[in-house]
Amino acid sequence: MIDTVAVAGYRSLRSLVLDFGRLTVVTGGNGTGKSGLYRSLRLLAECALGGAVGALAREGGLTSTLWAGPEQGTRHRDGPAQPTVRNAPAALRLGFASNDDLGYAVDLGLPQEGGSAFAHDPEIKTEQIFSGPLARPGAVLAERRGPAVRVRDSSGDWDQVATLRTFDSMLSEVVDPTGAPEIVAMRERLRGWRFYDHLRTDADAPARQAQVGTRTMALAHDGADLAAALATARELGRGEEIDQAVALAFPGATVRVQVDGGRFVVQLSRPGLLRELSAAELSDGTLRYLLWVAALLSPRPPELLVLNEPETSLHPDLLPALAELMRRAAQDSQLVVVTHSELLAEALGSDGVTRHELELDAGETVVAGREGPLDQPAWHWPKR
Ligand SMILES: Nc1ncnc2c1ncn2[C@@H]1O[C@H](COP(=O)(O)OP(=O)(O)OP(=O)(O)O)[C@@H](O)[C@H]1O
Ligand SMILES: [Mg+2]
Repeated sequence: MIDTVAVAGYRSLRSLVLDFGRLTVVTGGNGTGKSGLYRSLRLLAECALGGAVGALAREGGLTSTLWAGPEQGTRHRDGPAQPTVRNAPAALRLGFASNDDLGYAVDLGLPQEGGSAFAHDPEIKTEQIFSGPLARPGAVLAERRGPAVRVRDSSGDWDQVATLRTFDSMLSEVVDPTGAPEIVAMRERLRGWRFYDHLRTDADAPARQAQVGTRTMALAHDGADLAAALATARELGRGEEIDQAVALAFPGATVRVQVDGGRFVVQLSRPGLLRELSAAELSDGTLRYLLWVAALLSPRPPELLVLNEPETSLHPDLLPALAELMRRAAQDSQLVVVTHSELLAEALGSDGVTRHELELDAGETVVAGREGPLDQPAWHWPKR
């Protein structure tokens, strides 16, 4: 389980450390940094897939995503901030720690010298894999500084195991399970994290059309394989939970997957209707709820599941049923729900829920109710 997440220098998240629980709910008004937190978790996972530098470039590069306020010192609550001279190098830092497992931290910056057509591409400056809650020097098991990757061996000595290009993460490049087991383990762990941001329900949404189906352990990001995902979950023993979740949201309704010439389509029967409705005929909210059923009752639950604004286009009446599904999912996965729906947060309750409310203070994302830096969980960034 992830116990702490830390982000620095990413959009409004100038310096944020959050404790995570089994089920973590992050709320806050518009523009307080919720999506920023969601995206920073995605960026962390992208490091394991070799896509972090590309993902950042698509967001406008490091100069756009970097905290746009003054570097340090007094906050400017009234009027624009006074520009200050930047002393520290530009840095986007992301990390997480687990109290009794491995943690990972990465520091991205700008190239030292120009001369390349990609001089604005971010570079990976340092990466560390450490054990326990803090990246103290003695807890570091694998480390990348500039191009050099080294791993601590069983006698505590450092072995250099690879030399990397600036835009490659050690997680995606180092593949030796005997020489660098921690790196391989961390990659596999991050690759398993699952994110849902924008499940499509518009008129042309792929989930509305019959699709060729194969066994599907995780619903796709756009929800295209909804029917195959529901059929797989049913075949692998989650049929009763699917039925319960549907009945809780739509009393008397049942969902079934029809297979026609290898193409899968979702059919919903509702009381009062003479025939079933296919996915193409469902309302946005009904389809979205079914997408959440498939995402949250996956037959192979991930270690970490992160949802951004899952309440979108759902009527408040459906939120208690969605909350029930989420609590069910949190038994098998660590679940993070980023939402601006107070109703959803309330429906999730407080029992076993870690809740954080974000707010903006002089343009910077802070956690409501924290008096000062000492209220923040401990965190240690690796030095460059
Ligand atoms: N480089 C930057 N430096 C500082 N602040 C930034 C930067 N880029 C964007 N922001 C600000 O960060 C804030 C957080 O945006 P974010 O999208 O995370 O909000 P949100 O909580 O998801 O809001 P919503 O509920 O509207 O989706 C916004 O106010 C935005 O203007
Ligand atoms: Mg948002």
